[in-house]
Amino acid sequence: MAARAGQGASPGQELRVLIRRASIQRRVREVALEITRDFSGQRVHLIGVLKGACIFLSDLVREIDLETSIDFIAVSSYGKGRESSGQVRLLKDLDSSIADLNVILVEDILDTGLTISYLLRVLEQRKPKVLRVAALLDKPSRRVKDVKGDYVGFTIPNEFVVGYGLDFNERFRNLKDVCVVSLPAE
Ligand code: IMP
Ligand code: MG
Repeated sequence: MAARAGQGASPGQELRVLIRRASIQRRVREVALEITRDFSGQRVHLIGVLKGACIFLSDLVREIDLETSIDFIAVSSYGKGRESSGQVRLLKDLDSSIADLNVILVEDILDTGLTISYLLRVLEQRKPKVLRVAALLDKPSRRVKDVKGDYVGFTIPNEFVVGYGLDFNERFRNLKDVCVVSLPAE
């Protein structure tokens, strides 16, 4: 499907739906059920990686049938555009301690793995009881660091995607479907 006016595409950019909102909803429910089963009777503390994970986290937490709490952390690993600078910087730290908590780090997408491996290193030092990773999307073909998601929504090919929280230069986060954006060569 090509982009329509109102979806925010500029001339020369095309959006093609990769994962429809109904499939996302279904899969988010399944992931939440897995988490609910794995942590039966316990509390889980979800940490969303801003900003991309905010929509996934909002949907996921409402489908988890356990005691929950949430926090957010912000890092910057990407310059503008599509390529990672490879450098991860902490922009916003957590509000509270995670010591002895069942922590699930919630990411929009695992790409090179640099962001998540940095965050796992930082958070592990704070002695959570359990530290797991939930990612809506996984692009394993791009991996530089050997990291895996414990809960993965969808494995996708090596294409740049936007929507459902994911952006290109801060745009398209509001799309309800996950779309491939074709961009003019950089
Ligand atoms: P990593 O450190 O390379 O694994 O990158 C993780 C971050 O890069 C994600 O949290 C996203 O913000 C961004 N990212 C990676 N691939 C994409 C994509 O296809 N679309 C939008 N953002 C992406
Ligand atoms: Mg981003």
